[in-house]
Amino acid sequence: MKDIQFSMLRNKEIIVGVCGGIAAYKTAELIRMLTRRGANVHVVMTKNAMQFVTPLTFQTLSGNPVIHEMFELFRGSKIGHIALSDIADLLVIAPATANIIGKIANGIADDFLTTMVMATTVPVFFVPSMNTKMWSSKMVQANLHKLRDAGYEMMEPASGDLACGTDGKGRLPTIEEIVERIEDIFTQKDLVGERILVTAGPTMEFIDPVRCITNRSSGKMGYAIAKIAKRRGADVVLVSGETSITLHRTDIPVIRATTACDMLDCVMAHQKESTVVIKTAAVADFRCSNSNCQKIKKKGDTNILNLELEKNPDIIAELCKIKGDRIIVGFAAETENIIEHALDKLKRKNLDLIVANNVAQEGIGFGSEENEVTIIDRSGSTKQVPRLSKDEIAHIILDSVKKLIKKRHRVKTD
Ligand code: CTP
Repeated sequence: MKDIQFSMLRNKEIIVGVCGGIAAYKTAELIRMLTRRGANVHVVMTKNAMQFVTPLTFQTLSGNPVIHEMFELFRGSKIGHIALSDIADLLVIAPATANIIGKIANGIADDFLTTMVMATTVPVFFVPSMNTKMWSSKMVQANLHKLRDAGYEMMEPASGDLACGTDGKGRLPTIEEIVERIEDIFTQKDLVGERILVTAGPTMEFIDPVRCITNRSSGKMGYAIAKIAKRRGADVVLVSGETSITLHRTDIPVIRATTACDMLDCVMAHQKESTVVIKTAAVADFRCSNSNCQKIKKKGDTNILNLELEKNPDIIAELCKIKGDRIIVGFAAETENIIEHALDKLKRKNLDLIVANNVAQEGIGFGSEENEVTIIDRSGSTKQVPRLSKDEIAHIILDSVKKLIKKRHRVKTD
């Protein structure tokens, strides 16, 4: 099944170079994920890589012949390393061993993979993985430095237990993290200079230490916006309620906020540095005014338990009171009279944009992978966005934000 996620990798020709490290078995999953996102993957293996995985595995997963001989021809007749690098959009080396890093940093081209790296003009992305002592050796670090200086893309290895029985830096990052970085390479950086604060997920209000009032928001829309904004070059801070989502990026600070009051504090602490605030969080409107510090016990045969609720602060409305020239985007999750309610919120809270969706509609409601929204601006003009993946919706919302940013710059410079 194709990955339903929107991806910049669709129709891209990606060459994956596999070297002789134990992490080579993980590259099988990388190839699978790249092809699921629509990329056409060609695999080049070094001799040592074949000690760990057979070419048949990669051939089956990529759907293309695997190249491992220095003088192999491409598609039967063309000089392999030149022809393949000519059609490539990106070359990924995963795992990149100390050996390949050393060879390329020093201009050695003695097999198919290294000659192809010399022959290519497209980005080359190294994903190193090795023993922690090898990683920190002076020679490897000096070679990595050389590669970075020469403009090659690079990812730091992860830390943890290593196949050689030690613990430390040297693990291949997760496949999701690698793919996220590959998406970065193909994404236009049109939000550089913007500092975007995103809130996501539900808030939770405690009744007692084990029970709470919350809502069905999964946080997926907010996480998608944070991730896509980062891919497009913005500095992003994510304030998140309790969710089970993994971001697969280590360059977005995630600040946890459980209750609405926590979220207000976090937003207020970070709003000053932000140029844009996007509030997808589903904030509980009320909290218990007398939440118990011990678990409430069933008493006697009473069938009714009364909870006294008090209003929570309206975070976005508070923010709009001190908004300055910041762009503030709200969300309106509605079940009826969608546009009417959303417009009312936009005006009442003094927002710049509001994104309305019908959470009662099957397939686009809470927790789903897709959404269908209407984006409304202050003039009341609406943009209808059909049912798409949340990543695609995030791009479209950020396009609308970008239009407002441009307008803001024009006003400033007039
Ligand atoms: N919001 C907020 N603080 C609150 C309530 C909502 O910041 N206490 C923000 C949400 O993050 C969202 C927007 O306001 O961006 C609209 O949220 P919504 O819950 O739809 O609106 P409410 O004002 O709570 O109205 P209602 O619950 O009556 O629909």
